[in-house]
Amino acid sequence: MKVGVARETAAGERRVALVPEALGKLTAAGLEILVEAGAGAGAMIPDEAFANAGARVVATDELYAQSDVVLRVQKPAGAEVSRLRSGQVVIGLLAPLLDPSLMQTLADAGVTAVSLDAIPRTLSRAQTMDALSSQANVGGYKAVLIAANTYGRYFPLLTTAAGTAKPANVLVLGIGVAGLQAIGTARRLGAVVSAYDVRPETAEQAESLGAKFVRLKTAIDATGAGGYARALTPGEQAAQQAELNEVIGNQDIVITTAQVPGRKPPLLVTAAAVGSMKPGSVIVDMAASALGGNCELSRAGETVVTENGVTIVAPENLPASMPASSSQFYARNISALLLNMVSGGALALDLEEEVTRATVITHGGKVTSEAVAKLLVPAGGAA
Ligand code: NAI
Repeated sequence: MKVGVARETAAGERRVALVPEALGKLTAAGLEILVEAGAGAGAMIPDEAFANAGARVVATDELYAQSDVVLRVQKPAGAEVSRLRSGQVVIGLLAPLLDPSLMQTLADAGVTAVSLDAIPRTLSRAQTMDALSSQANVGGYKAVLIAANTYGRYFPLLTTAAGTAKPANVLVLGIGVAGLQAIGTARRLGAVVSAYDVRPETAEQAESLGAKFVRLKTAIDATGAGGYARALTPGEQAAQQAELNEVIGNQDIVITTAQVPGRKPPLLVTAAAVGSMKPGSVIVDMAASALGGNCELSRAGETVVTENGVTIVAPENLPASMPASSSQFYARNISALLLNMVSGGALALDLEEEVTRATVITHGGKVTSEAVAKLLVPAGGAA
């Protein structure tokens, strides 16, 4: 079976779906690897490195014509979609819930779409395949570096002959994968870190990394299914915002990472809270997207400086800014997922198997994912 590694074409994307070190396991499983010329350039991996690891470097036309399975990071763009053909499999972070109509197009074309966004996070066997976590980990690290780079002062306590620098106060909102990495990174830079989440079990995790857990008097427990939080009611959200407003005013840096899957990000940092922060303070809103962010004033992909001198950064693709590490982790995830679907060097899709069932979004000309199919039903009617 031929497995092709596509070159990413989305603006600013520098990751690649496989790295040379990941090839050994795949070739040992009987797979032949094709790599689109230039696919690794953004991650500083030359074509020769892939060739030396046993891949065949090919032109775009050949890649799509010959591959049985196409591996990518982001969903295919229009021109790439039209190159995919019936019976072919495409695997990537396809964001099926954000773009269900693309899934319908792929189903209509007879393409089997497999999305790493849909890996069941709580299944320990699937942890090596969990690309959202590996990429959020890179994101949480980079968010802190951006904050430190933007902040005009030291993060650590420093005593020098020329005076003493106070440590920065860093608040991390949302203690999931990105939040935990942000806590660890800020602590390693010497900041005084506090953190907050609506899932009480995160308190111990944050504390074990050296952060102080912020306990709100309203103490909402919003533990949801599958290791995620549930959305708050409007009343709970108002109570949470009011209490957080008091905490945020004392922070130099706020890193926000709160999300409830499939929902608009919860609003945790109101305009009033930003107004209470000192000039020079920095907010990095990791959750910002076209749907909004955790901060009322953030704008996805932009940096905003408020009238009171607070810089709000809302980077959209942090993993792409560390393409070598993020590609290395991603390659491990996508290889593990692919090998889970291969037997004797050929694709053996078992739609009864838990990971395959969760990640296969289209197959046999149909949208097989119930969650995506629901989004495709026109309001008030049958599909
Ligand atoms: P996660 O699901 O592991 O963590 C999110 C945390 O937010 C959970 O612990 C949850 O309990 C918490 N949360 C939910 N509602 C809350 C509320 N109202 N108040 C406080 N906490 C609340 O997610 P992960 O993987 O850590 O990703 C975090 C965010 O970062 C996501 O929005 C993700 O899309 C984004 N992200 C952004 C990147 C970028 O480049 N900007 C890169 C990677 C991830």
